[in-house]
Amino acid sequence: MRISRKMEHVHYALELGQSRQQGLSDIKLVHNCLPETSTDHIALTTTIGDLTMSSPILINAMTGGAHETESINRELAILARETGMPMAVGSQMSAIKNKEVAPSYEVVRRENPKGIIFANLGSEATLDQALRAIEMIEANALQIHLNVMQELIMPEGDRSFVGMLSRIETIVRHSPVPIIVKEVGFGISRSNAKQLQEIGVKTLDVGGSGGTNFAAIENARRPSALAWLNDWGTPTSISLLEALSVYPTGSVIASGGITNAIEAAKALTIGASAVGMAGAFLKVLQTEGADALHSFAKELHQGLILIMTALGANSIQALSGCPVVIMGETAEWCQARGIN
Ligand code: FNR
Repeated sequence: MRISRKMEHVHYALELGQSRQQGLSDIKLVHNCLPETSTDHIALTTTIGDLTMSSPILINAMTGGAHETESINRELAILARETGMPMAVGSQMSAIKNKEVAPSYEVVRRENPKGIIFANLGSEATLDQALRAIEMIEANALQIHLNVMQELIMPEGDRSFVGMLSRIETIVRHSPVPIIVKEVGFGISRSNAKQLQEIGVKTLDVGGSGGTNFAAIENARRPSALAWLNDWGTPTSISLLEALSVYPTGSVIASGGITNAIEAAKALTIGASAVGMAGAFLKVLQTEGADALHSFAKELHQGLILIMTALGANSIQALSGCPVVIMGETAEWCQARGIN
């Protein structure tokens, strides 16, 4: 039997890995040798819009929609339950079109009845589909993903992107839960952020380049002459600063190539209120197993507490007030674009 598209994404995400050219090496934290705090005083609680989350690290959208993906979602949901991390499921369109695969998503709510869970659909979704995706997993929020370049590289992908904003606007107006618009690894610009803000979107996940690369993944899935598009996209550091030039504190999630506590801390220090990680969790789960995944998540949270202690920041909000120096390509970009 042909391996499902969903499992091909998992396979190639792991095989190709992450370039980690997400721009966060341009962000330099300024050491504080008199932090006046203790590891016991650090709180990792954060707020995104109206959602209060006990961890600032989000298990970002990956999978569901094929029977083989159910065990991945189960393990991620158990991790979310044990750590308090919010979790997003992968695009639910397949379950909306074919009820048989719905259990691969529903498992996430079953394993984590009280957790914060995000539903996920693309911008082609109608309001009715959005409501069904939310209901399917009793979601606390709905992520709408933008993936124009991925679609264009797929021979069977969408070719028309007309009407995206108006469909999103309709969903924003009628959704019973908050909407998070996210990119899948190509970034969100300042002007895109403005367009989304104008239609009432309260939360963005910038999904910048430098992590899981869906141009490279789609090119690897078949013989392709489009490998020259593999470097497309705006790195996470830059995309985050672009989005934050429009959106206020408390409304932007950083993701794309975040793999450890220091990268997470840098994104939080320059103003993200949470960070999303997808490929890094998938890699540990699929190559080392569930126990290693739990240890990895524990180390991430402990690492964040150490960094916050060293900076004298008792909360995620305080972390975003700590001094940073922005250098290199990220600084040049911001200067050229008038972002400070
Ligand atoms: C994804 N991602 C994703 N995003 C989304 O909104 N809906 C989806 O269905 C999927 N599917 C998916 C499958 C796999 C295997 C991976 C690894 C990722 C994208 C993901 O949420 C994230 O935006 C990018 O992967 C960038 O983050 P990382 O992986 O660099 O941390």
